[in-house]
Amino acid sequence: MVGILFSERTSVVDAIASNETRSAVQLEKDYVLHTWQNRQGDWDGPTVVGGEGAWFWDEEGKRYLDLSSQAQCNHLGHQHPDMVAAIQKQAAELCFIHIAWGAKPRAELAKRLIETSGMEGGKVYYAQSGAGATEHAMKVARWITGRQKIISRYRSYHGATSNAIALSGDSRNWSTPGVPNIMHALPPYCYRCPFQLTYPGCNLRCASHIADIIEWEGPNNVAALVVEPIVGTNGVFAGPGDYWRELRDICNHYGVLLIADEVMTGFGRTGAWFGWQHWPDAAPDIMLLGKGLTAAYQPLGAVVLNQHCASFFGDHPLPTGLTYSGHPLCCAAGVAAIDLYERDGLIERSRKLGAWMHGQLREISTHHPSVGDLRGIGLFAGMELIVNEETRQPLSPWPHMHPALKRLKSEARDRGITLTTRGNLLIISPPLIIEKSDLAWGIAQVDELLDIIDEEYGTQSNGWRPERTHHIGFR
Ligand SMILES: Cc1ncc(COP(=O)(O)O)c(C=O)c1O
Repeated sequence: MVGILFSERTSVVDAIASNETRSAVQLEKDYVLHTWQNRQGDWDGPTVVGGEGAWFWDEEGKRYLDLSSQAQCNHLGHQHPDMVAAIQKQAAELCFIHIAWGAKPRAELAKRLIETSGMEGGKVYYAQSGAGATEHAMKVARWITGRQKIISRYRSYHGATSNAIALSGDSRNWSTPGVPNIMHALPPYCYRCPFQLTYPGCNLRCASHIADIIEWEGPNNVAALVVEPIVGTNGVFAGPGDYWRELRDICNHYGVLLIADEVMTGFGRTGAWFGWQHWPDAAPDIMLLGKGLTAAYQPLGAVVLNQHCASFFGDHPLPTGLTYSGHPLCCAAGVAAIDLYERDGLIERSRKLGAWMHGQLREISTHHPSVGDLRGIGLFAGMELIVNEETRQPLSPWPHMHPALKRLKSEARDRGITLTTRGNLLIISPPLIIEKSDLAWGIAQVDELLDIIDEEYGTQSNGWRPERTHHIGFR
């Protein structure tokens, strides 16, 4: 008979009893591996037990204003009653049916994605995350073109799974070395132009450089160019002027598929449904979605294929699949999120409130010498922190984080606001539903907190270097 010895049973009972007395934070520390930490011991809670709108609170009742939308995903804030109701309704009706069968929310969401993107005649492949969308888009692009190489850019992020992190132009890709057939182009990073040119005199060298790479790699070998139309936490910058249109033209010229990674920029983050729609005549061939797709109420990713790409699968196999592809509960959350974006005019709200937010941030930046550059669009802003305006010396070498920025982040938390930081960037990306008065309060806090960084301004003659080499840069 298989059983538990008395002594083992006692220890299980003891463990359960002690779990009950251990704090929630301690339980988390004891059992959970926290992602993107340099050391697991760096994680120090708190445990969050509730939320409403742009606010959430921990088990001690301390409230936090969410100026990061968690990981730029919580577009509708916390516990939106209509989202909760839509998920409950679907759960009561049909929690799951495999994609071998039809499911109403799956089809409805795909239809709505084609409509909002204007990618008429297109179709949707469902993944479970942004990284999953990247993985599948890479495969799909190779099948459609029969070519193997994929180009992305430095200072990009496309997910943490093996191919997605290798595709990311981010030093965190050390975690999956040796993935072949991926090339990285230089980014359109005007504040620190890698070509040391200035727009518009540069003639968009950052775009023509990608045409050079395609030529050198052999146009018949290059399947796709994967680009975030507005780079996420790896920079918060878009290419200047007609950069995106140039990329479209280059891809057309070489028959290379243009893939827009809209995982972070999608669903109103930048004041448009999708970031590429700031250049509406230059639609991508494929679009990657996640995060705002369900406003983080369910995990879901999607690959939207335009008509040309989708039609390929009319007479070719689709040799891939996921057990939970198009999970009805997740798709119902996606439909409900799109309903709310439309009903409450949230895309337009992000554009208008975002313009106001950028005005306020510009205003406070004028009296903080450590803010070298303020970038972004919609409810998505990045402040690049420096210690010398003339040389633009960054507060810390990318992607390392200076102790002063760590201090700022921790003091922000003490004051009850959450901000995203990465390298020498401070990122403000509130939920699209945030009250203007709350946002104003948050910006006033940021104004005071920036004094911490100003203390570093002008003090570093040779630049700050991290004590140990690590490759994460969030904390
Ligand atoms: C642009 C972009 N692509 C892909 C991903 C990966 O998404 P996920 O974390 O859902 O896998 C992210 C996540 O931050 C992202 O910002």
